[in-house]
Amino acid sequence: MTTRIGLVGAGFIGGRHLDSLSTLDDVRVVGVADPQLERAEQLAARAGARAHPGWQQLLDAEELDALYVCVPPHGHGAVEEAAVDRGLPLFVEKPLATDLATAERLAARIESAGLLTAVGYHWRYLDTLEHARELLAASPARMVLAAWLDKAPRVPWWSWQEQSGGQTVEQATHLFDVARVLVGEVVGGAAVGSRSGSAPGDILDVTTAALTFDTGAVGSFSNSCLLPRGHRIGVELVAPGLGLWLTEHQLVVSDADGERTLDRQVDPIAAEDRAFVAAVRGEGDDVRAPYAEALRTHRLVSAVAAAAAGDGVVELAQPAGVPA
Ligand SMILES: NC(=O)c1ccc[n+]([C@@H]2O[C@H](COP(=O)([O-])OP(=O)(O)OC[C@H]3O[C@@H](n4cnc5c(N)ncnc54)[C@H](O)[C@@H]3O)[C@@H](O)[C@H]2O)c1
Repeated sequence: MTTRIGLVGAGFIGGRHLDSLSTLDDVRVVGVADPQLERAEQLAARAGARAHPGWQQLLDAEELDALYVCVPPHGHGAVEEAAVDRGLPLFVEKPLATDLATAERLAARIESAGLLTAVGYHWRYLDTLEHARELLAASPARMVLAAWLDKAPRVPWWSWQEQSGGQTVEQATHLFDVARVLVGEVVGGAAVGSRSGSAPGDILDVTTAALTFDTGAVGSFSNSCLLPRGHRIGVELVAPGLGLWLTEHQLVVSDADGERTLDRQVDPIAAEDRAFVAAVRGEGDDVRAPYAEALRTHRLVSAVAAAAAGDGVVELAQPAGVPA
């Protein structure tokens, strides 16, 4: 039986998902929606799908088994609610929204509908992350240093607070998510940020946070978009007798045996797509970041971003891992 997928948002990441879904047996992207219709048409042509100028037309015209939502952060809300109303399993790209209130509202609706969901925290599918997790099980992390030092992506919405939520919420969120997997839940801390005004937009262009975890571990998280290219993007972990440096591509391990570098063996975006589709088809149970789990990461980055833009205190209503 063919699984029919609709794709909302025909940009960079929509294209990545369309290409990886197109390699799966018995899966078809049947419709692509984007208000920039020519983008929808180009992407749809790659999969033999139909193009639509909006998600409403896509949902009205196509028989779907699941919906991918790959819109910019400010585009979330009504499209997910329409999917909930139709009982359509949802794959949502991170971040869940620019703000926390929208994500909390959607999470409550998804929870009460019992909808199958997955969120694009694809680092969770890195085989190297799994290896790091095994090593840390024997020697738990006492400190994490996370950095996302990069250029501003060249999409029109990214540098505007109202449209992206800022770099911590939009981009560095992957690192906070990894830290939640490898270290534990953040219980509090402090954050500062500022903006030089040298680039277009209005987001903070440097942010740094010092956080405490429920395990007693401590962490620093820094991000900047002032650089000409990707400079340093990853998570460093310090544990008794063990140092780790995890990027999207590699894991460097330093322990009593010396230092070794492991390249990833899986494409994590393809892996998350396979896992979501298998769950939709009732053939698998390996969705690693359903909406409720992604919400915990979104609560954390929202608290850090608010602190950096405000009084500096990272306030979490409860440890980020405890359901409301
Ligand atoms: N998981 C990852 O590593 C990863 C990588 C890149 C992007 N993303 C996320 O994916 C999202 C999109 O990023 P992108 O780089 O593809 O952006 P993009 O600007 O390349 O594409 C977004 C597309 O969505 C369309 N769009 C906007 N509002 C829409 C709406 N209401 N309905 C349908 N389409 C709409 C735009 O016209 C545009 O074509 C962002 O939230 C980003 O953080 C995730």
